[in-house]
Amino acid sequence: MSMVKAYLIFSVLFVVFGTPLGFLGNGDTFRREVSVELNPGLTPPSVLPRGVALVHVRGLGLNDTLHFLLCNSEAPALLMVHTNSTRSAVQVDWPAFLNHSSSSSLRVEPESSVQYRSALVFTRVWEYDDVNNTADPQKTAESSFYPPYELEKFIWSELSVTANQTEPTVKMCGGETSESFLNGSLCLQFSAFESEGRDKPWPSLRHNANSSQLRVWLDGVTPRGNNSRFALELQSVGDSGSEGRVDVRSSIDDEYTPSIFKVSQWVSSPVNSSSVSGYNQWKPVAYRKPQPVFEDATACKHSALVSVNRIPRSGLVQAYFPERSETSGLNISFGIAKDPVFYSDTKYISWTVLVGLGEPPVDSFSPLIIVIMTVGLGTPLAIILVGGVFVWIRKRMSHSSGYEPIRNTDH
Ligand SMILES: *[C@@H]1O[C@H](CO)[C@@H](O)[C@H](O)[C@H]1NC(C)=O
Ligand SMILES: *[C@@H]1O[C@H](CO)[C@@H](O)[C@H](O)[C@H]1NC(C)=O
Ligand SMILES: *[C@@H]1O[C@H](CO)[C@@H](O)[C@H](O)[C@H]1NC(C)=O
Ligand SMILES: *[C@@H]1O[C@H](CO)[C@@H](O)[C@H](O)[C@H]1NC(C)=O
Ligand SMILES: *[C@@H]1O[C@H](CO)[C@@H](O)[C@H](O)[C@H]1NC(C)=O
Ligand SMILES: *[C@@H]1O[C@H](CO)[C@@H](O)[C@H](O)[C@H]1NC(C)=O
Ligand SMILES: *[C@@H]1O[C@H](CO)[C@@H](O)[C@H](O)[C@H]1NC(C)=O
Ligand SMILES: *[C@@H]1O[C@H](CO)[C@@H](O)[C@H](O)[C@H]1NC(C)=O
Ligand SMILES: *[C@@H]1O[C@H](CO)[C@@H](O)[C@H](O)[C@H]1NC(C)=O
Ligand SMILES: *[C@@H]1O[C@H](CO)[C@@H](O)[C@H](O)[C@H]1NC(C)=O
Repeated sequence: MSMVKAYLIFSVLFVVFGTPLGFLGNGDTFRREVSVELNPGLTPPSVLPRGVALVHVRGLGLNDTLHFLLCNSEAPALLMVHTNSTRSAVQVDWPAFLNHSSSSSLRVEPESSVQYRSALVFTRVWEYDDVNNTADPQKTAESSFYPPYELEKFIWSELSVTANQTEPTVKMCGGETSESFLNGSLCLQFSAFESEGRDKPWPSLRHNANSSQLRVWLDGVTPRGNNSRFALELQSVGDSGSEGRVDVRSSIDDEYTPSIFKVSQWVSSPVNSSSVSGYNQWKPVAYRKPQPVFEDATACKHSALVSVNRIPRSGLVQAYFPERSETSGLNISFGIAKDPVFYSDTKYISWTVLVGLGEPPVDSFSPLIIVIMTVGLGTPLAIILVGGVFVWIRKRMSHSSGYEPIRNTDH
């Protein structure tokens, strides 16, 4: 009896309140007015090296602004700055910026309006010969590592910025001159969003107007070992007074990212506080083909967060953050233990991360799952309700035909 009751309460809550309240579907209506500009304020004679750019995406809210700056001068970096003003602006002292000569050649003004700032930097690509097939750099002897590809030395050959002002995307591809990277490229694709949604290709992370997305892929690199696997080193730079940690949460397995039950989030919180100021969020999955399908999915794993004693060599970070800023880093390694498929089989790996402000988005059920659950829970519920009404009518009828009424307080 109590089981039926619990079931009834649950299904009534689910069907009646769940969908309209939006915690199951798309209830997020927060929007920003997004605009994009390339190399803000750059005038001759200042010129950027070929293939290098500073992209500024401004997300204007009602009383705040979220700035994203992406730059591939030295190590590629994405900077996020949140201000409590709608008039905050990016100022670049180009001669000093290009000369890497000053730690304040890039500013977001007025500086007093800045509420939060942090940068995510792609520093290195590691390659190791996974002879024991553990897919775990931590369990691999140091001698199995090849010299890493230093992204600060990359030469960028391709840069494109789509003119779509509401959801701009920027793509940049680079490489280096060593024999093994001759046919290879490392590409970054950045997207910003004016409102809630999902990208079509897997892992279809849920984004909102406070987030941006980076897809990174490594294509066509000639492996240096017979069992080569790769890892990507990331560093995060921020102000002192905040601390980072990586949480692994359970997530929903649905049509968006099949068979993945976890979501990882590298969050930054004020010291001694549980609130989250900013995050990097990803699902522990990577894809071995440019068009992600189920068979080409593999796992990825993050290493423990370590603190780094100097800010990374990134033109953007060094132009904005003081030398003493808090820096921490981790590696994302691709592949799963005992997997017979190595990088050499497809010569491709891609991984996607969401970078944003505030609490990371929580996955919701997809419309398909909602329909299945609503039908699955709703049909028995309807049967029970109809049955209840039927019993009630019968009771009424038997009452009117002279039987003693049965007092029922158990609703
Ligand atoms: C900014 O706007 C939000 C709603 O868009 C409101 O909740 C908040 O109180 C406002 N903040 C200030 C400082 O006006
Ligand atoms: C660039 O910096 C160097 C020292 O780091 C300085 O000698 C040179 O004059 C600077 N050039 C410009 C154009 O500012
Ligand atoms: C913005 O934040 C600063 C402190 O960070 C505060 O002094 C200022 O009053 C705020 N401005 C608005 C418009 O809320
Ligand atoms: C392979 O595993 C053995 C035993 O665990 C270990 O001693 C050895 O260092 C590993 N080799 C590499 C290259 O990691
Ligand atoms: C911009 O991108 C959005 C989302 O992908 C799309 O709906 C819209 O039609 C695009 N607008 C233009 C002008 O291309
Ligand atoms: C790069 O590609 C060219 C043409 O496809 C091929 O001849 C060459 O061997 C490749 N180089 C490496 C290092 O894979
Ligand atoms: C985005 O950030 C603003 C400012 O912090 C906040 O008011 C808003 O609720 C956030 N929206 C979402 C969807 O997280
Ligand atoms: C890779 O395998 C081939 C044959 O399977 C072998 O000749 C070669 O020495 C191996 N290379 C390395 C770097 O282990
Ligand atoms: C954080 O908490 C610890 C112990 O609870 C305390 O010693 C420390 O001063 C606090 N730090 C800040 C910045 O409040
Ligand atoms: C990434 O992995 C390499 C190789 O194990 C290691 O040397 C490096 O310190 C790691 N980086 C971080 C930030 O943990």
